[in-house]
Amino acid sequence: MPAIVVLGAQWGDEGKGKATDQLGSSIDYCVRTSGGNNAGHTIVVNGEKFDTHLLPSGLLTPGCTPVIANGVVIDPSALFSEIDIFARRGVEVPDLVVSANAHVITSFHITLDKVTERFLGKNLIGTTGRGIGPTYADKISRTGIRIADLFDESILRQKVEASLDLKNHILAKVYNRRAIEPDQVVEELLSYTDRLRPMVADTSLLLNRALDRGETVLFEGAQATMLDVDHGTYPYVTSSNPVSGGVCTGAGVGPTRIDRVIGVIKAYTTRVGSGPFPTELDDADGDRLREVGAEYGVTTGRPRRCGWYDAVIARYAARVNGLTEFFLTKLDTLGEWERIPVCVAYEVDGVTQDEMPMTQSDFHHAKPVYELFDGWQEDISGCRTFEELPKNAQRYVRALEEISGAPFWGVGVGPGREQSITLRDAS
Ligand code: IMP
Repeated sequence: MPAIVVLGAQWGDEGKGKATDQLGSSIDYCVRTSGGNNAGHTIVVNGEKFDTHLLPSGLLTPGCTPVIANGVVIDPSALFSEIDIFARRGVEVPDLVVSANAHVITSFHITLDKVTERFLGKNLIGTTGRGIGPTYADKISRTGIRIADLFDESILRQKVEASLDLKNHILAKVYNRRAIEPDQVVEELLSYTDRLRPMVADTSLLLNRALDRGETVLFEGAQATMLDVDHGTYPYVTSSNPVSGGVCTGAGVGPTRIDRVIGVIKAYTTRVGSGPFPTELDDADGDRLREVGAEYGVTTGRPRRCGWYDAVIARYAARVNGLTEFFLTKLDTLGEWERIPVCVAYEVDGVTQDEMPMTQSDFHHAKPVYELFDGWQEDISGCRTFEELPKNAQRYVRALEEISGAPFWGVGVGPGREQSITLRDAS
């Protein structure tokens, strides 16, 4: 199984690392293909926790080469501070490979992200403030700065000046902020070149050659389906394509090379930031899910909004990503409820529909149609086979599988690597 995609099926934070762990240690390359340091993974090494935001979370898998591909936006300062944290705590990180074509997040992109959010007031997106949107905006406007540009000072200066020309007018005249000095930006970016140079490569060539040799490449999703700029809850989305199609453009590999597309989905739903969320709970159940599931952002520390499992979203994610399977996470979190509601359809303006509404206006009005399942009310974190699960937990998993649009490959029952149940062999 040489090319495997693992991505989020909901609004992120599904515990994608859990599914990755189950793939075992035979991964030759782990690759980030979209987003930037807005993502958040926690890696546990010898009982010590490390948070990664930009580095692929599989980077400590023995024998695995971590790759940041062209579709990612890179803040060099964040990149090096992540690498240095591992080094300071005595954990060796294998040599990282970075695409020459990846776009660079500069200090002015971060400034713009923050001032734009402030300007939007109550209509804000709730971004992570890491400069992601403005950097992708420059990429699409063809005014971006790419990693390769850092190695040619005169090109870099031209590009920074051109990019700041308009932005400084906007900063001063719209946002009432001080203009940004191009020299300062250039100087900062040049300070990273010596460290970056040995990492930079044609990552599309590297990965395609690896696939030609039959090596295993894991494409690690960041953010998730419902945050996709095309397929998510626009405009309350991130500025990239976390869906499986984004892996192809974000890494320079063709769709015919992908063998498995695994959608990671929580046994309930969470989201951070603004935007519609049909099964959201503004009550004691929502608070309890947050506490039991420890639902606080790794990147921003924000409390996550919580709600019940939404099978309409699951079916949608199965469809737009072409999922070959799901991995269900955090089933153990539901251990204290007597009854567990599952959203099986929406009611939109009095009409019941079991597919995602075509428009965001309808999605804003969607009311969940719930089916109730009996809870199991016991600790399942020690279960290692499906048969060991209480009968009601088995029924819950099988019922979700039936309505979610793709087979379930495995189930997570706790944060530890070993706290998983495999339901079937890999497809
Ligand atoms: P941005 O990606 O910082 O521009 O933020 C846009 C939206 O995506 C906001 O609602 C963020 O909270 C959300 N977001 C970005 N990255 C993640 C993630 O890794 N997990 C969950 N939500 C995210």
